[in-house]
Amino acid sequence: MPRESIDLLITGAAEVATARGSTALAGDELGTVGVLEGAAVAIRGETLLEIGPEAELVERYEAAEVLDAEGGTVLPGFVDAHTHPVFDGTREEEFVLRLQGARYAEIAAAGGGILSTVRGVRSASREQLLVLLLERLDRFLELGTTTVEAKSGYGLTTEDELKCLEVLAEAARLHPVEVVPTFLGAHDVPEEHRSAPERYVDMVVQEMLPRVAEAGLARYCDVFTEQHTFGLEATRRIARAAQELGLGVRLHADQLTPLGGARLAAELGAATADHLEHVDEAGMEAMREAGVQPVLCPLVPLFLREPQEAPGRALVSRGLAPALATDFNPGSCYIQSLPEVASWAALRYGFTPAEALTAVTLNAAASLDLGARLGTLEPGKQADVVVTDLPNAQHLAYELARSPVRAVVKRGRVVDRKSTRLNSSHANISYAVFCLKK
Ligand code: NIG
Ligand code: FE
Repeated sequence: MPRESIDLLITGAAEVATARGSTALAGDELGTVGVLEGAAVAIRGETLLEIGPEAELVERYEAAEVLDAEGGTVLPGFVDAHTHPVFDGTREEEFVLRLQGARYAEIAAAGGGILSTVRGVRSASREQLLVLLLERLDRFLELGTTTVEAKSGYGLTTEDELKCLEVLAEAARLHPVEVVPTFLGAHDVPEEHRSAPERYVDMVVQEMLPRVAEAGLARYCDVFTEQHTFGLEATRRIARAAQELGLGVRLHADQLTPLGGARLAAELGAATADHLEHVDEAGMEAMREAGVQPVLCPLVPLFLREPQEAPGRALVSRGLAPALATDFNPGSCYIQSLPEVASWAALRYGFTPAEALTAVTLNAAASLDLGARLGTLEPGKQADVVVTDLPNAQHLAYELARSPVRAVVKRGRVVDRKSTRLNSSHANISYAVFCLKK
């Protein structure tokens, strides 16, 4: 029988591990990950065609390209559900101040924090921002992230917010990493509006949101809901206006103080409430009833040296469906690695490696309304695949501080591939043995 032609066959996997389905997994289901030992993955065009025993697939398909997993574990492409990647300039001096005891809120109140990055973004050209963003997307890809939610929020004038969203759109055209843009004009009240913050809220609602929506530059609107930035009433107004324009809502909720952001997210029917370090029982219950997904960022309290962490395990026991994210930004988390996030969710929340895997794949994709296309390895889904050097999927959380990624496939194409490790190649081992004998 003639073999069917396909574009790519992934062979040599110790196992293929993936959640299943197109909707977020909640509560006890979170860790339901299927593991197929010795399976191969057949891909045609942008689509995953079949997963099955390697010998069968090798016999059935004639592949234009074969990607050898070399005994590693094959996982769905990671989805980062919360990032702030459009910025110029880093804030390592604030990192040092925090090491000396300063708190994030104090640094912000003294004119640092978000507003210092706003100054950098306002004075940066589109080209500068684009080059920096493309480098960051390269880094995401090297770490196995194939889709990112990406927020504006360091422009804080209509023109500068549009500039950031346009740079995101341009990067998305140029780079294999898929970008889901979020408008975060309500990230902070800029210096020039500090004496009358309501005027800035008016501007977000009356000027920024309509222009962003008209240009189709964002799928979501986010608000940093805190008393010192946008209180509950201002957040409600901005979110409602966004919804009327057809945008979904994600909120930075109960991150630094227990303001009630989670309950507001439930009232608004938001897609997600993010951070949640200070969420209370009522907030968790309201989110569960309204079907709001938590997006947890376990590296942020570590990076900020803030003692309060999100109640990750409690959110799962109450039946919620968390996604895990980096929150990559220059202030509160200058880290892009979802494998690192998976480890910290395990160590700090007690997530099993399987729960963490679902939370950085299917649940993150579902939080962006992309669960039907992304987040699992199943026939018919888009072929976004990470080939790791991990002996099994539990090592995703078990190992820290290095990238386990051997190759990345996005929309069926191999877009990143490490050269075979020199120190483990046969030639090098023979050479080492030869040297030892001498
Ligand atoms: O998610 N909380 C607000 N925004 C970011 C921090 C941004 C910054 O410090 O530049 C966050 O932690
Ligand atoms: Fe954030």
